[in-house]
Amino acid sequence: MSGLLTLDLVVAVLAAGAWLGAGATAAMAPGPADPPRRPWLVMALVALAVLAAAGRVVTVVLLLRVGWWFAAEKVILGLPLLFGGGIAALVLLGTPGRPARPARIGPRGVLALFGAGYAAAAGPVVTLLGGYPVTWSVGLVTVALVIGATVATARVLGRSRLRAPAVAAFTTALLGVALAVVTTSTVDTGGGTADRLGPTTMVTDLRGPDTPAPGGVVRRFTLTARTATVDTAGGRRVSAWTFNGQVPGPAITANQGDLIEVTLVNADISAGVTLHWHGYDVPAAQDGAPGLTQDAVQPGQRFVYRFRADQTGTYWYHTHEASDTGVKLGLFGSLVVSPRPATTGAPSGEELDLTVPLHTVAGVLTAGEHGAPADRTVAPGTPVRLRLINTDDVPRVLELAGTPFRVVAVDGTDLHSPGELRRTGVRVPAGGRYDLAFTMPATTVHLGLSTGDGLTFVPTGPAAPPAAMPTEGRPLLDLLSYGTPAATAIEAGRRADRRFTLVLDRGLGLAGGRPSYGYTVNGRAFPQVPTEVVRAGDLVEFTIVNRSRDIHPWHLHGHHVLVLARDGREPTGSPLWLDTFDVRPGEVWRVVFRADNPGVWMNHCHNLAHADQGMVLHLAYAGYATPFHGGHGNG
Ligand code: C2O
Ligand code: CU
Repeated sequence: MSGLLTLDLVVAVLAAGAWLGAGATAAMAPGPADPPRRPWLVMALVALAVLAAAGRVVTVVLLLRVGWWFAAEKVILGLPLLFGGGIAALVLLGTPGRPARPARIGPRGVLALFGAGYAAAAGPVVTLLGGYPVTWSVGLVTVALVIGATVATARVLGRSRLRAPAVAAFTTALLGVALAVVTTSTVDTGGGTADRLGPTTMVTDLRGPDTPAPGGVVRRFTLTARTATVDTAGGRRVSAWTFNGQVPGPAITANQGDLIEVTLVNADISAGVTLHWHGYDVPAAQDGAPGLTQDAVQPGQRFVYRFRADQTGTYWYHTHEASDTGVKLGLFGSLVVSPRPATTGAPSGEELDLTVPLHTVAGVLTAGEHGAPADRTVAPGTPVRLRLINTDDVPRVLELAGTPFRVVAVDGTDLHSPGELRRTGVRVPAGGRYDLAFTMPATTVHLGLSTGDGLTFVPTGPAAPPAAMPTEGRPLLDLLSYGTPAATAIEAGRRADRRFTLVLDRGLGLAGGRPSYGYTVNGRAFPQVPTEVVRAGDLVEFTIVNRSRDIHPWHLHGHHVLVLARDGREPTGSPLWLDTFDVRPGEVWRVVFRADNPGVWMNHCHNLAHADQGMVLHLAYAGYATPFHGGHGNG
C-alpha cells in the first residue's frame, strides 16, 4: 500500500517531467520559426508522457480500491489536469492519429507542451502539499498556478501578449484564497451537536478524589526537573534534562487504590515543564497538557498532581511542554501500578518484575534503567515480567531469545488468554507498553533490540550452555490475531453516537500561524485542526487513515480505545484496548471509546517531532472549557 502511494507519485512525476522535457527540447531551435534541433527526442518524450498518464490511471484505480482517502485529490484534480493538459497539447501539436511533423511545432506548440507539463505537475504537487481533503479552494489556486506558470513561460520565450490569461489566473487564485478563509471551521461534531447540556465547567475543576480508596495509602514523590550530566550506556557523559538528576526519572510505583501525589518542581528548565501521565486516564485537571489543563511550570515554580491509582499496569510519565526536546533529553520515567497485594493466603513466591524503558540517549538505544547492569542472574523457575516502555519517537522491535514467552498486557491492559510465543519479535509503538512474561529456564535468556545491546538473564546454578542469540527476520507478533476473544464493556456492533475521520498526512500548514511543511490532520496543522466535540456518555468512533510515508503512533489523552478493525480486518484475538497504536503508511484503523472522562483532551501523534510540527488536535466534551490559552502550539 505504501509502495502503491510511492509508485503513483513516481508515475505522476514522470508524466510531468516528460511533458516539460518535451517542451524544453522543442524550444531549443535556432529561431522561433525553425524546427527543433532534436525532433525525435520531442516525440519520444511525448510518447513517454502519454504512457505515464495511462500508468497513472492504473495506480489511481488501485488506490481507489483501498479507499477514497488515498485517491480523492487525484480523481478530482490530478487526473483531470493531467489529461486536460495532455489532450490540449496533443491537439495543438497535430490532429491525433496524424502526428505533427516536428517542423511545425512552433511557439504555440512549445507553450502547449509546457502547459501540459505544469498541469501534470500540479497533481503530485497537490498530493505533497495539500493532500486530503481536496477543496474548491485548493482546486482554484492550483488551476491559477498552472495558468500563471504557462503565462510566465510565454514571457520567458518572448511571447508576452497573454494579458487575459494572466488576469484570469490572478482572479482565480484570489477566489480560491477567499473561499478558504470563508469555509474554515473550528469544530467537528462527528455527526452530533455541539450544544452543551448545562453551565460550562472548567477543566481545572475536574480534579478527582484526593484521598486513597479504603485500604490504600498516599504515595508521595517529588520530581525536580533540572539540567544535569548523565552517563550513557556507551560510557559517555552527556548533558541531559532530568528529573532528580537521573534519566529516566525516578520510577513511580503504587498499588491499586493508593493516592499518587507528585510535586513537580522546575529548577532550571527554561522551556518549562509539565507531567503527563501517558496512558493513565486521570481526571482532566491532572493531565499535564500545557495551555489546556495548566500552564507550564517555569523555573522556580511547582505544581502538585494528585490522582487515585485506579488502573493497574505499565504506564509512563513525561513532560508535555516542549515535549519533543524534553522527552528526548530525558524528562520521562515509568509509572507502574500493581494490583493490591492479597492480605490473606500464602505470599507469592519470588518474582522478577522489571520495568524496561527503551530510550535513545546520545544516539545509543538503551534498554532499562541507565546504570543498571545489562546482565542479571535469575534462579531457574522464577517467573519474570518485563515491562517494556517505548519512550522514543519510532517503533522498536524486540526479540526474546532462549525461552518461550507471552505478551500478557499491552498499554496497561491484560490481554485475554495470550498464547505462548517462540521465535517471534514484538514491535512496540512509540509511547506504547508491552508486558512480556516467561519462566526463567536453566539456560540464558536474551532480550535483544534490533539495534543496541539489550538485556541478558543468566541462570544461577551450574553453568548452562548459552541459548541462541536472536536472529534477524523473525516474524513479528500481530496483536490482531493474538489471544482469544472476550466480551467488552462496549457492546459489539453498537452504532457509535459520533464518528470522526482523521486523515494523517504531510503538507503545507499554518503551524503556530506560520506557513510550514509540517504534519497535518485532515489537511490542517495544529491549531487549525477543528476540535472534535463529544458529549459525556457518547460512544465515539475514530477512523484513522495514514496517507503519508511516515508511521504515526496515535495517542488520545484520557481514554483507552478499543480496536474495531485495521484495514477492514476485525481482531480475531483478544480485545485490544490501546492508548497508543501505530498507524503505518496506508493503514486505516477503526477504534471506538466511551466518552466517560469529561474535559478537553489532546489527541495527537506520539512521534513528538510530528506533534511539534502540527499533528495535534483537541477532543472537547460539550460544556467543558479551558481557562488557559488553548491554542498553545506545543505537542
Ligand atoms: Cu505521551 Cu500527549 O503524550
Ligand atoms: Cu506522526
